[in-house]
Amino acid sequence: EQAKLEARFQQMVDDDIKIEPQDWMPDAYRKTLVRQMSQHAHSEVIGMQPEGNWLTRAPSLRRKVILLAKIQDEGGHGLYIYSAAETLGTSREDMCKALRDGKAKYSSIFNYPALTWADIGTIGWLVDGAAITNQVALSKGSYGPYCRAMIRICKEESFHQRQGYELLLSLSKGTAEQKAMLQDSVNRFWWPSLMMFGPNDADSPHSAQSMKWKIKKKSNDQLRQEFIDATVPQAEFLGITLPDPDLKWNEERGHYDYGEIDWEEFAHVIKGNGPCNKQRAAAYIKAHEDGTWVREAANAYAAKHAAQAAE
Ligand code: 3HC
Repeated sequence: EQAKLEARFQQMVDDDIKIEPQDWMPDAYRKTLVRQMSQHAHSEVIGMQPEGNWLTRAPSLRRKVILLAKIQDEGGHGLYIYSAAETLGTSREDMCKALRDGKAKYSSIFNYPALTWADIGTIGWLVDGAAITNQVALSKGSYGPYCRAMIRICKEESFHQRQGYELLLSLSKGTAEQKAMLQDSVNRFWWPSLMMFGPNDADSPHSAQSMKWKIKKKSNDQLRQEFIDATVPQAEFLGITLPDPDLKWNEERGHYDYGEIDWEEFAHVIKGNGPCNKQRAAAYIKAHEDGTWVREAANAYAAKHAAQAAE
């Protein structure tokens, strides 16, 4: 019986029929989606912190309003993906509690500090750029609620990427100090942005199964290569050099060759020893605790109304 159910499920995936919450699915399929979607949502929410730290220091009202809109979008993306994950039988509270308890992952990139204003542009250009590359592939995935969430999110993400690039474009036309700030920012964010795509395919324990189930439509290395190929010309237009001496166009391959990623650093950050892991966790927990009164008030209000409705 189980084998028949699995065969029918795999046939639906192979025929590109979207799997919906009420469909039968292997427990392992459900589990890996909850794992990936909750981490994705956590990334969106934690990702608000590096940018939030610059809201009061934005150089103009226009920049502040753009940054505020982007941060609000990220929070919304998080809630959107938590809701999509809840269709698999988990609850947002469970997922967020795992994050508070330090038991859940989020994208390593958010454990790096946003040290200068240029970082806000670089985060938009590189981090959201990498996220779009990844999310466009996810939007064609097999699980209905997740891929539909991605379609909506990608539309907003392209505004995030554009505004980041435009910010850097103005710096690239600015003073020597502004150009130096731009170059320094890209030097710090280039390699960690490449790590967002995950380990090399050969070292990725989940990829084979996730590709079979079409949770992943393209592999980590394929998406990383796509991102590099699209981004190098943009860097050239900014007049900056990317911090990789091995980066060069390979006519034969039709792609850029690039240097080896420091997987030691990757593992180090993921284990919780990145520059900002502790601050991100502390800020997240503090926001949760500071919000206790809001949750209590909302629950009291709901209970009162439920009691009135019951009279
Ligand atoms: N940061 C933290 N953990 C990472 C990671 C990263 N950059 N890359 C991989 N990992 C983890 C995986 O979660 C997995 O650990 P786990 O078993 O505990 O979950 C382990 O490393 C092995 O990696 P795999 O490649 O085998 O794992 P996946 O098949 O899950 O692939 C992934 C990793 C490509 C990140 C995939 O999970 C994915 O596509 N996730 C959804 C997209 C996402 O989370 N993006 C994060 C950025 S969102 C963002 O940037 C918001 C933007 O608006 C600013």
